[in-house]
This record gives sequence, structure tokens and C-alpha cells, in this order.
Amino acid sequence: MTAATSDGGREVLLRAVRMTKEFDRGSAPPLRVLSEVSLTLYRGECATIVGASGAGKSTLLHCVGTLDLPTRGQILFGGTNVVTLPPPELAKFRNETIGFVFQFHHLLPEFSALENVMMPAMIARLPNKEAKSRAEELLAAVGMSERLTHRPGELSGGEQQRVAIARALVMRPRLLLADEPTGNLDTKTSREVHQLLFRLNEEQRITMLIVTHNRELASQVPRSIRMQDGRLIASEEKSAEELARARAIATEDPDAEVGQG
Ligand SMILES: Nc1ncnc2c1ncn2[C@@H]1O[C@H](COP(=O)(O)OP(=O)(O)OP(=O)(O)O)[C@@H](O)[C@H]1O
Ligand SMILES: [Mg+2]
Repeated sequence: MTAATSDGGREVLLRAVRMTKEFDRGSAPPLRVLSEVSLTLYRGECATIVGASGAGKSTLLHCVGTLDLPTRGQILFGGTNVVTLPPPELAKFRNETIGFVFQFHHLLPEFSALENVMMPAMIARLPNKEAKSRAEELLAAVGMSERLTHRPGELSGGEQQRVAIARALVMRPRLLLADEPTGNLDTKTSREVHQLLFRLNEEQRITMLIVTHNRELASQVPRSIRMQDGRLIASEEKSAEELARARAIATEDPDAEVGQG
């Protein structure tokens, strides 16, 4: 392990270094949405990004995920600054390394749950048999084995989101980025999806970065990164006791409302 990939004994998955993102506004001055944001994510960790609407959370997630690139700054994966990769290599890197889950599932309506989950693997030209077995295994892991042939319109909101999570994992990404993954779900279904994410994080050591307005979710995740006006203003780590307490409250109190804010 090199200095670029280890940090105090923890394995670094990625380092974003002084990322600035500006959007061109035609004749108006560019709009700065991220200001020199630096962020290190360690392998296997689970962190949330919280902050007011418009703070730049989704923009940060898109930049970290290379769906959109920062105007300035670096994103280092294993010592490679992926910002400078030629577009085809960047697309390959993204497809193999990063899974995305959004507030709205973006499943393809004309395909079954199984086909939707297989899709990224088919695009990456994995053999059909391999894509199918991975998809079946993941759909079983998210409790959807009984719904393989259902189309998205024949699934509940929580089931659709579970299929979207399975799809995000089919390429066995090292990093899962989620933008308000349960923003569209009721309290009970949100909690089920949260439990699923925690289980995948713990059992498969998938690194997770989750944007959320859901206080209950943030309370149950080891690290919370707070954004304000395009900057990271705090990164708080919870103790094991705090985490255990928050997770116990969420499972013991089925009628409590999920806090928003
Ligand atoms: N493509 C774009 N062009 C211009 N401005 C943009 C663009 N995308 C986002 N912005 C602006 O950047 C700011 C941050 O947007 P972003 O979507 O990152 O906020 P957010 O923290 O995710 O908010 P929310 O909690 O409401 O989802 C907003 O003021 C938004 O209007
Ligand atoms: Mg957003």
C-alpha cells in the first residue's frame, strides 16, 4: 500500500482535493456551487452528506461520482486523478467502480426487475449467464426473489428502490453514491431500505456516501458531513454507543415519524 492509498492505518478509497464547481451562466458571471471542497473517503466507511437545500450536496455527489466533473481540483482513486481520464476511460472507470442510487429509481419501465438489474452488466459486456446470476443473487439479497419478472410499474415504491439498489451493485462497485435514496418513501419503507444499505455496507464493505435530509438516517450512520454554501463545514464521527442507540430507536419505535430537515 502506498502513501497515496493509506492514511493512519485506514485504507483510502478516494480523495477529492480542492474541488471547485462553477456553472456557466451565459453572459452572467459563473455560478460557484462548490468551493475548494476536499474530502477523503475510507474503504468500507458509510457517511452522510447533510445540509440545507441548495448547499451543493447533489453537485458534490455528482462530481465525486464523475457524472459531472469539477471545474478545478482533483479526484484521486488509488493515486489516479480520474478527472483527467479521456471520456471512454472515465466511463469505463465509473461503470466498474461506482454505483448510483437516486431519489427516483430511474428503472426502465419496459424491462423486468431482473432485466433492469442485469442492464449495467450487459452494457459492460459481461456474459449473459454471469449478468443473470449476479442479478438474481442481488435481487435475493434485497428480498426481491419473488418479483423477478415484475416490471417497475408492477412494484411498490420500496420494491422499486430495492431493485434500483440491486442494479447499482451489479458491477460490484467499490463505492455506492446515493442521493436521497428514501426521499420518496414512507417511514416504514424508508427504514427497510436504510437497514438494507447498512447490511450491504457491513457485510460487503461497500463504501457509501449518502445525501439525505432524513435526520433518522443521518443519526444511524457513523460519519456525517455537513455542507453549507458549497463548502464542507463539519465532519462528525459518532461513537459506537451513539450509533447503537440511534439504530435501536429506529427499530424499536415503529410509529415514530422520520425527522426531516
Ligand atoms: N446545472 C446547473 N446549472 C446552474 N446551477 C446549478 C446547476 N445545478 C445546480 N445548480 C445550482 O447549484 C446549487 C446547488 O445545487 P445542488 O443540487 O447541489 O443542491 P442540493 O444541496 O443537492 O439541494 P437539495 O437539498 O435541494 O437537493 C443550487 O443553487 C442550484 O440552483
Ligand atoms: Mg440535491
